[in-house]
Amino acid sequence: MSGLLVTGGAGFIGSNFVHYAVAHTDHQIVVLDKLTYAGERASLSGLPEERVRLVVGDIADAELVDALVADAGAVVHYAAESHNDNSLTDPSPFVQTNVVGTFTLLEAARRHGTRFHHISTDEVYGDLALDDPGKFTPETPYNPSSPYSATKAGSDLLVRAWVRSFGLEATISNCSNNYGPRQHVEKFIPRQITNVIDGVRPRLYGAGENVRDWIHADDHSSAVLRILEAGRTGETYLIGADGERNNLEVVQTILRLMGQEPDAFDHVTDRPGHDLRYAIDATKLREELGWEPGYRDFEAGLADTIAWYRENEAWWRPQKAEAEARYAAAGH
Ligand code: NAD
Ligand code: DAU
Repeated sequence: MSGLLVTGGAGFIGSNFVHYAVAHTDHQIVVLDKLTYAGERASLSGLPEERVRLVVGDIADAELVDALVADAGAVVHYAAESHNDNSLTDPSPFVQTNVVGTFTLLEAARRHGTRFHHISTDEVYGDLALDDPGKFTPETPYNPSSPYSATKAGSDLLVRAWVRSFGLEATISNCSNNYGPRQHVEKFIPRQITNVIDGVRPRLYGAGENVRDWIHADDHSSAVLRILEAGRTGETYLIGADGERNNLEVVQTILRLMGQEPDAFDHVTDRPGHDLRYAIDATKLREELGWEPGYRDFEAGLADTIAWYRENEAWWRPQKAEAEARYAAAGH
């Protein structure tokens, strides 16, 4: 497995993976990315040209995908429509990219006998009650809530079927909420950081009691590399780093780290069908593959992330007005 085809490598987690893989492995990398509103060429800047090549194209383009998969040692599939709120206003691109696009890649991997790693989300499991002591495990039944998570669940099931029916050499990982540099400003943490930079009060959906299990994007990348090296075909690995926090705590930590008062935020209309709590039990990944997260201090990771947004306004500024216009139209 020398060359990696990384789909969605100009997005948030995919670009962090490409930077991480260049620094920690000797893989040659081809990125296939459509550069939707969420993809940024600039997210790949600074990488050595002899190691990383960007192909701008659609994962649902069967001819292009076939040619790229034919040359790849392995496919690492990040490309997706990724934002829940957008899936509530227009689910159509979610079905097209997340389901049809994944199908297109799987068919090419089947034809060429290519190792395939599918990046998925903990949201396929639905949500947990706030007072539930349990966490998601690989045995938790699928129960997605939103059009986004339903299409990711559908793509996971396609991968499982391609393993069982066609013997595809594939693995799946389901990760919790990522934070770190290069995340689109539509997402919770960058939206609030860039609001504060702009002198706008952060926006908390509902009461802010919803819990997310935060992991730094670099820890997601190290786990994916470990699964590529040693994961067993057909297996699902849950990726998480015991980072549960409710949204109110996260907003107040951002406010404190940015020198604001703890109540300097506004409550806004809640997300319809808003999942209450996600929590990952990553025992299988830790015990079977010996993976451990590198970031153990969420506040320190958040401070680094705030510093990145302060220092990289040219990266996020072009996204901001359009993202806020979408939120204004949805009442958030
Ligand atoms: P993102 O929206 O930041 O990036 C998605 C990338 O995919 C963009 O570069 C976009 O241009 C590209 N893309 C979209 N449609 C495409 C298409 N049809 N063809 C080619 N490229 C296309 O998303 P992200 O947050 O980086 O998420 C990446 C993956 O990780 C997704 O599969 C997502 O479900 C999964 N995931 C995300 C999180 C999270 O916290 N963000 C957590 C767990 C899993
Ligand atoms: O759990 C993994 C998932 O995490 C990934 O599969 C998704 O791709 C990723 O977007 C993320 O989904 P969430 O819906 O949890 O992330 P988001 O950043 O949209 O919101 C995080 C929480 O913050 C959620 O409870 C909604 C809330 N929120 C969000 C925004 C944008 C707010 O309170 N205010 C906001 O302005």
